[in-house]
Amino acid sequence: MNLQRIHLAYFSATGTTARYMQAISKGIDASQTNTIKLADIKTDTITIPADELIVFGIPVFSGRVPEFARKAIQQIKGNNTPAIITCIYGNRDFDDALLELKDLAQANGFNVVSAAAFVAQHSIFPKVAQGRPHTADLEEAKQFAAESIKSIHTNTTILVKGNYPYRAIKPVPLHPTTTKQCNNCGRCMKQCPVQAINPDNPKKIDKKKCISCMHCISTCPQQAKKLSGLLYWIATTKFTKSFATHRDNYMVYQTS
Ligand SMILES: Cc1cc2nc3c(=O)[nH]c(=O)nc-3n(C[C@H](O)[C@H](O)[C@H](O)COP(=O)(O)O)c2cc1C
Repeated sequence: MNLQRIHLAYFSATGTTARYMQAISKGIDASQTNTIKLADIKTDTITIPADELIVFGIPVFSGRVPEFARKAIQQIKGNNTPAIITCIYGNRDFDDALLELKDLAQANGFNVVSAAAFVAQHSIFPKVAQGRPHTADLEEAKQFAAESIKSIHTNTTILVKGNYPYRAIKPVPLHPTTTKQCNNCGRCMKQCPVQAINPDNPKKIDKKKCISCMHCISTCPQQAKKLSGLLYWIATTKFTKSFATHRDNYMVYQTS
């Protein structure tokens, strides 16, 4: 199937969701690929026509779609437009995130043709699923995309893992701190998806606004933002031990 245009609509704090999105786009033969960064959506509404395709990608935060990403996705409308939905998770569990994403997409006029939960290195505890996505994961994502658009059905709802009510939103009590390597360049402040970094002093992070997404750590050219402390050390030890077992990627498709 040759599509005129595909849209990759995603948020990626530490780059793993972005890598899966690129792999997915390689599996689809489209004349044009457009990127929609969920962190850049303000109040404007984006409408995707029925003869195009959208791929949604979100990192799983506490078993859910990150709250600001949910609000951004609500600004994207379809007209029975085919959608591939994906969530990327750090080898613990994706809980209700994929179900929530499916509900959001359907409520906004998308025809969800396939859904996947892909495993990636945990962005808070990097020893969990360290190094993933591997080449084989990315190849699987590419094949998943190709398979997804082989036959698109209308009036068919796919079933994905998840429960109602969705898991309660639990903020992560770990926030980055700033070391003396910080030279106040302001890059982290400009890119923070929830404006939690003080514009006058990028060393200061507002813990009430911070969603612990780890983007500031990942983007800092000086490596001046980091997680530290006893609580982080204890949680790292526990997480690394509890979620060491390899998990396979999860993929479901529409059936006629
Ligand atoms: C605040 C926060 C909460 C997370 N919650 C979960 C979770 O519930 N289950 C899980 O398996 N991974 C969880 N992770 C790990 C991320 O989903 C995973 O590392 C993902 O690959 C990050 O995507 P990114 O690199 O595009 O930012 C969490 C990460 C963060 C920062």
